[in-house]
Amino acid sequence: MPSIVALAGSPSVDSRTVALLRHIASHTHDVDVVPIRALPAEALLGADVDDPAVSEVVKKVADADALIVASPVYKAAYSGVLKTFLDLLPPAALAGKTVLPILTGGAPVHALALDYALRPVLTALGARHVLTGLFLIDKQIERTPDGVVLAPDLQARIDAAVAEL
Ligand SMILES: Cc1cc2nc3c(=O)[nH]c(=O)nc-3n(C[C@H](O)[C@H](O)[C@H](O)COP(=O)(O)O)c2cc1C
Repeated sequence: MPSIVALAGSPSVDSRTVALLRHIASHTHDVDVVPIRALPAEALLGADVDDPAVSEVVKKVADADALIVASPVYKAAYSGVLKTFLDLLPPAALAGKTVLPILTGGAPVHALALDYALRPVLTALGARHVLTGLFLIDKQIERTPDGVVLAPDLQARIDAAVAEL
């Protein structure tokens, strides 16, 4: 089975995006969920690739067969937290890799952020294939103490996207 690294770009402690990725990981073999917010803030802001925690995740990305890159929509784009990590990756960090982009948002109004914001940066990092991706709104992902309950039909969409990955 291919190994998949799932990067989560939310700064929130109680992140819907992270809960969604953990849900996906619980249904899929060999998915390693990495919340970027868990990395040291100073190392992220200073692009300190020698920081041990940062370099460990950079290596995970390099070793992954495929990636999920997920973020909440923030101000009509992906989050700054995700950007701090993507900016410290080497130029062709995603060369040869397939990437599934996922955005969660409060409303569908910024669904195109997947294509005008997140997709270009993944392409710029050399991703071989950036899949169509998923834009999911909050009311489709109900938080529970154990994780998430998804809206009807959503699990099928997620399963299809992960299967393609
Ligand atoms: C600072 C901030 C900015 C946001 N900007 C947008 C936005 O521009 N468009 C949108 O649809 N949702 C926006 N949202 C809503 C979040 O994208 C949405 O609630 C998301 O699911 C949060 O994911 P998280 O719990 O993983 O952080 C914003 C939320 C915050 C806190």
